[in-house]
Amino acid sequence: MKIITSINEMKEWSRKCALNIKSVGLVPTMGYLHEGHLSLVRIARSENDLTVASIFVNPTQFGEKEDLNVYPRDPEGDRVKLESCGVDALFLPDAESMYGAGYETFVEVQQLSLPLCGQSRPGHFRGVATVVLKLFNIIEPARAYFGSKDYQQLQVIKKMVRDLNVRTEVIGCPTIREADGLAMSSRNSYLSRSERKQAVCLYEALWKAQQLFITNETDPNEYVGAMKDAISREPGLSPEYVRLVDPDTLKDVSVVQAPVLAILAVRIGQTRLIDNVLMS
Ligand code: PAF
Repeated sequence: MKIITSINEMKEWSRKCALNIKSVGLVPTMGYLHEGHLSLVRIARSENDLTVASIFVNPTQFGEKEDLNVYPRDPEGDRVKLESCGVDALFLPDAESMYGAGYETFVEVQQLSLPLCGQSRPGHFRGVATVVLKLFNIIEPARAYFGSKDYQQLQVIKKMVRDLNVRTEVIGCPTIREADGLAMSSRNSYLSRSERKQAVCLYEALWKAQQLFITNETDPNEYVGAMKDAISREPGLSPEYVRLVDPDTLKDVSVVQAPVLAILAVRIGQTRLIDNVLMS
């Protein structure tokens, strides 16, 4: 696995792939890799000639009071995992080369960035869209792979690619879960042992929504009530949002009909977790 830290070297590597008519699949990450990331790598490998993973803890997608400085990192563990999954190149830019002095250009997907996570994390999706477009411009991948746990992020990136005529195809991949249903996330490492046990209620809430969907319930309030119920059974958890939305617009639905997305964000102590399920 080639390790590349310079933007110019990464561009050069990608240019050579293009000259040799080799398709590149990109898995952008912020590191501290888990099985969810590795599943993206496996899908990327199966659909492309060469696979690049990037690790960059992107400062522009963190708010001032967020966890940029304590975001979990494990560079050596990540390198070993990616190498054993058969990644061809690992791109590790630093903040200085991505956002040097005088940096002032940002990408904003206006409407889709506003609801849900956009409410409590203003500027977050602007940072995500900007860094993802920069990675696409540097690496020029044929395809890029993102997990569906970050559903709003995936929609924002797909919209950016459509609106700006970016050549990369954005591929959403299934959420990978722990045995008890908790969606894998690097931020799960913040949870204490008891918080980790409580966190399974996010999945239970989504499971309840699915049960209602199977019974053809059409009132979104029934779903939201049942999901909030599952979360409120655990003391000390605070739901940030619990919603039933249209999967394309992310707007609340007034009548539940397929396809519909149950989506939530919950604070457990200092940790903010998100999850969702698409019902169709
Ligand atoms: O999902 C993530 O890890 C990040 O938001 C991403 C897409 C790598 C952009 O920094």
